Amino acid sequence: MSTRPRIYMQEVATRDGFQNEAQFIATEDKVRVIDALSECGFAKIEVTSFTSPKAIPALRDAEDVMHQIKRVPGVEYTVLVPNVRGAERALSCGIDEANLVMSASETHNRANLRMTREQSFAQLEQVIKAISGSPVAINISLSTVFGCPMEGDISEDNVIQWLDRFASLGVSRVTLCDTTGMAYPSQVRSMAMRVKALFPHITFTLHFHNTRSMALANTLVAISSGIDRFDASLGGIGGCPYAPGASGNACTEDMVHMLELEGYDTGIDMKKLLAVAAQLPGLIGHDVPSQLLKAGGRNTIHPAPDYVKDIGK
Ligand code: COA
Ligand code: ZN
Repeated sequence: MSTRPRIYMQEVATRDGFQNEAQFIATEDKVRVIDALSECGFAKIEVTSFTSPKAIPALRDAEDVMHQIKRVPGVEYTVLVPNVRGAERALSCGIDEANLVMSASETHNRANLRMTREQSFAQLEQVIKAISGSPVAINISLSTVFGCPMEGDISEDNVIQWLDRFASLGVSRVTLCDTTGMAYPSQVRSMAMRVKALFPHITFTLHFHNTRSMALANTLVAISSGIDRFDASLGGIGGCPYAPGASGNACTEDMVHMLELEGYDTGIDMKKLLAVAAQLPGLIGHDVPSQLLKAGGRNTIHPAPDYVKDIGK
């Protein structure tokens, strides 16, 4: 048993990443990536989303993917669900967790989910009531909690009000999503400290995007504020197609590399992780933001130029 503090890593590339790819990724390729990720040591994998195929055509094969992946004991398999219809589809596939999504910003909720926040809440409330008491866990992902690209700042009080309403329905898992990389470290500290104090029975995940290169700084600050679960995306791919300017998530391999150096136990097998990450550019047809894939770990040793040995002779 490791005595290092544990950080739980939750992989979202095949949902947050693939949803944003213009080119459809074949079902068998998705399944291959997920099966490889299942061997890497993640606490949770967000496999796909049960959204409208018109809204997110890239994930229109959600049922097939869920039915074809191999489940590894100890890994939780979750899926994104926006409404009652999505929950029905997800439940038919034997999910471990339903990740119910709505936005703290009214405008982003309307743009992304084509509902008011009240309409979204009513849909999610129905799903929560139907699932409660079953073995399927419920997580609420609240988007744009650190800012909305169409509204600007989102107040902490607004976020707390939605958390209150979900807490009163018995929700015990919540992800605070920085949908377009607007979060900054002192803001993260303030939010994390406040929600941890107000909702001690809720397990919080933080979901950062690296749109403005602050995801890793935000991660360290979140940990020092008591958060121990993070979403991250292989290769750093990702982004919401309905949030202007959205770009990739915090990159899993970059985050794990940093956290392990800092003395945390992420449970991740870096060699296996990098082997899967290395397949991504070929699969999606373009380069990925990952720094570690390009540079290797900090202990990557390069040969010195020949003249070095002759200097000083
Ligand atoms: N899965 C599959 N089909 C769905 C569905 C779901 N979860 N929800 C609705 N549909 C279908 C309906 O059956 C209907 O089909 P039809 O045109 O063949 O009759 C059609 O989609 C429209 O239904 P409606 O309820 O009017 O949905 P909408 O068009 O207002 O879209 C959402 C609402 C929530 C389904 C859609 O906006 C969505 O899926 N958004 C997800 C966005 C997302 O994932 N963003 C990134 C992650 S944060
Ligand atoms: Zn995201």
